[in-house]
Amino acid sequence: MTKIDRDGFTTNLGVLVATLGSAVGLGNIWKFPSLTGTNGGAGFLLVYLAATMLVGLPVMIAETMLGRTARADAVTSFEILAPRGQWEWKAIGWMGCAAALLIMAFYSEVAGWVYAYVFKAVSGEVSTVDPKVAGAAFAKLVSSPLTVLAWQWVVLAVTGGVIMCGVSKGIEAVTLRLVPLLFILLVALCVRSLTLDGAGRGLGFLFQPDFAKITPAVALTALGLAFFKLSLGMGTMLTYGSYFRDDQNIPWTATRVMLADLSVSLLAGVAIFPAVFTFGFEPAAGPSLVFMTIPAVFASMPGGTVFMTIFFLITAIASVGAILSLIEVPVAVLSERYGLGRKQAALATIAAIALLGVPASLSQSLMAHVAIFGLNPFDLFDFASSNVLLPLGGILICLFVGWVYGFDKTARSLSNHGELNNRGLIKAVFFLIRFIAPLSIAIVLLNGLKLI
Ligand code: TRP
Repeated sequence: MTKIDRDGFTTNLGVLVATLGSAVGLGNIWKFPSLTGTNGGAGFLLVYLAATMLVGLPVMIAETMLGRTARADAVTSFEILAPRGQWEWKAIGWMGCAAALLIMAFYSEVAGWVYAYVFKAVSGEVSTVDPKVAGAAFAKLVSSPLTVLAWQWVVLAVTGGVIMCGVSKGIEAVTLRLVPLLFILLVALCVRSLTLDGAGRGLGFLFQPDFAKITPAVALTALGLAFFKLSLGMGTMLTYGSYFRDDQNIPWTATRVMLADLSVSLLAGVAIFPAVFTFGFEPAAGPSLVFMTIPAVFASMPGGTVFMTIFFLITAIASVGAILSLIEVPVAVLSERYGLGRKQAALATIAAIALLGVPASLSQSLMAHVAIFGLNPFDLFDFASSNVLLPLGGILICLFVGWVYGFDKTARSLSNHGELNNRGLIKAVFFLIRFIAPLSIAIVLLNGLKLI
């Protein structure tokens, strides 16, 4: 293997912002509200919160640490860190590449919907509080195969352009300013939403748990979302960790990213559910939910069209940070293991995604009736990645760090070789990684898939 000069993040702020840029994306604005809606509201949120703090955070710390220690791509890192002869661990990295492609196949489609909505917002087509009109506008978009495919390709072309500029320049520059802007717009949306008639019912749906609604399938979806949200279980955080600086405080960075990401999701929830109950939308509408309700909230406030346009624009740009971090996993593997240039690696990855993206994009039109395990390709890719591959990757990462890599090396790495005075914290994190996280993932996964 040839050692190549590794690009990296140049400042501690850059690290934080890029990692946050990976976490914050369509997961907050699109996936979190639609899943909370279809899975019964507050009960789902409760499991999601527990999964994020007790499983997501420790896995994020573990994954980032592995990357920074090995300073290599998701496959090679395990070759470097695993004891001699235990080559099987690198399967985690390959699984991660597969998950990245599956996620990208549907993620780039949803990003395409967002791009399209920037223009729909400008034209005023979606400025309505009427569920029927809003539903029809969404249906018109997703049921025209060529339009959705074209938007997906625009997304992939934009992404390809950015990723070819390299890690620090591309990713840092793009994400540096966007998350705060998104935050401000969401706060404005929340203020409007909280003054609507249905605010009380919306908040009740979001924050008053009905424990009977927490079924094994709901718990698995919440766990899958926790992984998806924090970009865990498939090597994204490992690859980003490999660009971290030696003096970066990993547990603290991870905690801040987790909290910031959670706030964006909660704000999106508070912006959306009051409107759902005020204007008579269906909370369980699924993927279309945000594309109908967010415009409705904007439509009900002064200057709505302008703000709606800005909102979709920022969401579109925020999705770039997340997409870059997904694509970065296979790109790093291809360029570092096989000596491909970053450009060729990015092109090859994007070509593979474009291919897989076709069935995902046609799932609401020409392939709506195709069912594999009862799911259309879009839902299948989502389920297989979020609810199977990511949690599985998470268990394996925990087992690797907790039982193979061991406490001493973990403590050395997470304390930056004794420079940080955080041994108590590391002990607690290690306990979660060694026992609690893998056990709870295993139980939720096996139950959710009806295997036990
Ligand atoms: N976290 C991003 C979002 O919520 C999506 C994402 C980026 C992701 N990288 C990932 C999901 C890696 C899973 C794994 O939009």
